Amino acid sequence: MLFDTHAHMDDRAFDSDRTELLSSLPEKGIGLLMNPGCSLESSRNASHLSQKYDYIYAAVGSHPDAADEVNGEVLEEYRTLCKLNPKIRAIGEIGLDYHYEDIPREVQQKAFRAQMALARELNLPAIVHEREAHEDGMRIVEEFPEVTGVFHCYSGSAEMAKWLVARGWYIGFTGVLTFKNARKAVEVAASIPLERIVLETDCPYMSPEPFRGKRNDPGKLYRMAEKLAEIRGLSVDEIHRITLENGKRLYRI
Ligand code: NI
Repeated sequence: MLFDTHAHMDDRAFDSDRTELLSSLPEKGIGLLMNPGCSLESSRNASHLSQKYDYIYAAVGSHPDAADEVNGEVLEEYRTLCKLNPKIRAIGEIGLDYHYEDIPREVQQKAFRAQMALARELNLPAIVHEREAHEDGMRIVEEFPEVTGVFHCYSGSAEMAKWLVARGWYIGFTGVLTFKNARKAVEVAASIPLERIVLETDCPYMSPEPFRGKRNDPGKLYRMAEKLAEIRGLSVDEIHRITLENGKRLYRI
C-alpha cells in the first residue's frame, strides 16, 4: 500500500474522469492520499474531496502563484475550513517560487509568512513549495521553529535537506527521481534518513519515467517506490511500508 502525499486531484486535468479514477485508486494500491490546496477555491475543492472519499485527506493554503490572494479574509476562511473538517491535516501548499516572477517576491514572502503563522496557530504541519528560492525559504523556516512539515518536490541540495531534517522536516520526492538526469534528487534520496522520506506524484504534473510528458496520476506512484528501493538497496515492499508510515507520521493520521 502506498501513500501519495501530494496529489492535486481537484485539478482541471481530472475533470473528465475524476470519479472513475478516484474509485479505482485503492485497487491500484493507493491506500492514502493528501490533496493540498493551491488557492482558496482549490482548498475548498480539496476539502470537499476528502469528505467524499475515505482514503483522501486535504490541506488548505495558497501556492506562491496565488500569493496575491492571501489576506485576512482568506486566512479566516482557511481557519474555518480546518475547524469544520477534521480531515484537513496541513497548511499547504505554501512557499516561494522565484522561477517565474509573475508575483513579486515580497508578496510571496508575506503570504508564506502569514500561512506559516497560521500553521503555528492551528498546530498543523506545512506543505512547502520552494523553487529557486532556497535562501529566503530557509530564512522563513528559521523564523518559525515550532512549525515543521514537508518540503515537497524537493529541488535543493543534500546539505539543505540535512539542515531541514535536523529541524524536524520531511522531504518529498516526485517522478523527478526516475529521470535520467536526476543526479541531484538521487543524491539527496540516498543520503538523508529513510524515516524522513515521503513519496508523491504532484499529479497531474511530474510524470515518472516511462510516462514522462503524459498526465500524471497516483496510479504511477509505484515507479517512485521502485526507484527509491533501488537507491537504498531495499525491497519495494519495505519502501512501501516505510514511506506509508512516514506519511502517516507527517500528517498525523
Ligand atoms: Ni503541488
